[in-house]
Amino acid sequence: MAVLVARGLACDKAIQRGCSPKLSHIVTSVYHRKETLAFDDVYETKDYDITGTLNTDKTYGYRCKSMITIPLMNHEEEVLGVMQFINAMDEDRQIISFTEEHVTMLQSLASQAAIALSNRKLIENLENLLMEFIRSIAVAIERKSKYSSDHIMRVAKLTEMLAERIHNAESGHFAETRFTPNELKEISMAGWMHDMGKIITPEFVMDKSRKLERIMDGIQVVQERFARLALLIKYLRTQLSAEELTAFIHEHISSAADSSTIDSFLEEARCFIENLNVGDEFVPKEKIERMEALAGIDFEYEGCHFFLLDELDRKNLSIQRGTLNSEELKVMRAHVSITWEMLSQLSFPKKYKNVAFYASTHHEALNGSGYPKGLDAPQLPLQSRMIAVVDIFEALTAADRPYKTPKTLSEAFGIMANMAKGGHLDKDLVDFFMDSGLYLDFARANMLPEQIDEVDIPLIKSRYHFA
Ligand SMILES: [Fe+2]
Ligand SMILES: [Fe+2]
Repeated sequence: MAVLVARGLACDKAIQRGCSPKLSHIVTSVYHRKETLAFDDVYETKDYDITGTLNTDKTYGYRCKSMITIPLMNHEEEVLGVMQFINAMDEDRQIISFTEEHVTMLQSLASQAAIALSNRKLIENLENLLMEFIRSIAVAIERKSKYSSDHIMRVAKLTEMLAERIHNAESGHFAETRFTPNELKEISMAGWMHDMGKIITPEFVMDKSRKLERIMDGIQVVQERFARLALLIKYLRTQLSAEELTAFIHEHISSAADSSTIDSFLEEARCFIENLNVGDEFVPKEKIERMEALAGIDFEYEGCHFFLLDELDRKNLSIQRGTLNSEELKVMRAHVSITWEMLSQLSFPKKYKNVAFYASTHHEALNGSGYPKGLDAPQLPLQSRMIAVVDIFEALTAADRPYKTPKTLSEAFGIMANMAKGGHLDKDLVDFFMDSGLYLDFARANMLPEQIDEVDIPLIKSRYHFA
């Protein structure tokens, strides 16, 4: 006896396309009418179109005779598919009609199959729901920020692409590395959830685009203080001799200026503070010292208080990299601990048990200098290292961050080479990321044309392999 199982997908898709079901076909009729059909000899039916059966029989030299087609229905009377049994046989292997006993037994088998299908569908639906839920949380986090619109989505997609490329690698360091379908899904989930903890990071910290930014960029307040001081100098010119004004300037403002240079001194100082506020480049010690000297300008004149920078301005302008001060950096960095706290409480299926760990270790470094736990190389699996590489690459090249200009490909790889050299990133992964050309596929789809420059891969590799 032959058994055919058809799931209802083809029928459903046809209906979605606007076609009406062909009820003259046996399987379609059973699927839509939810009724079992049995034939002693299907060739004799005048009620149904059996062209398909005749063609199949002709192709394979078979002869369908007795046939029973049963709908597979779940507990909600929804048809999941149909089962078709062909050519019942007696003990002598002669084809006979399906008996009532056969029908009862096969219907019971069909309901068992329906339960199995139903369970499978339920699991698939739950997994789909989980993925949709994960993506909607990612969208919610991205919406929090005015600027970084798609970081999580881009990191997730690039992580998936990297995992696929490694899985398919036929040569090189990862030639032997293979992921199971569940492992690929696990990595993908971790990518989607890697910044989940940012759900509680204050928007003020996430979006801080300038060092002096509080509710608004504090540079305007500082500019007003400069203007006030310039007005005072203008007034004093009418009241004091040049020597007296120079003495006043030396006492209260700077010994580097005098009555003839004070205007340009203040103008240059204002421009210097405005540039320092941006936070794009690393700030050397000399610039911090110059800012400290300006912060030292603080005096009273005829009952009025004149100063340029308050204590918080001084602290913020002392930031040497980026725009976040030490407290804000702490708040920002907490997102990975929160990611761990949130995800480790979820009961992921066993096959996805590492999602929380992979997701929450993307700021760890192989040399142990990362956060939050300071894990080192033996504690960091390939999946954690992959998300770390992708996260850095996306952050460096993203064109939507207010606190930095996007890096070109060669600038980004230059920085990543330093990180590989310093023991932060996995050298083999950085190699693979460049050699596989994955970065170019990503760049063409996500970066500005002016960012996509020529990358001298051997030169970049030489910085961390042979240094
Ligand atoms: Fe992160
Ligand atoms: Fe991230």
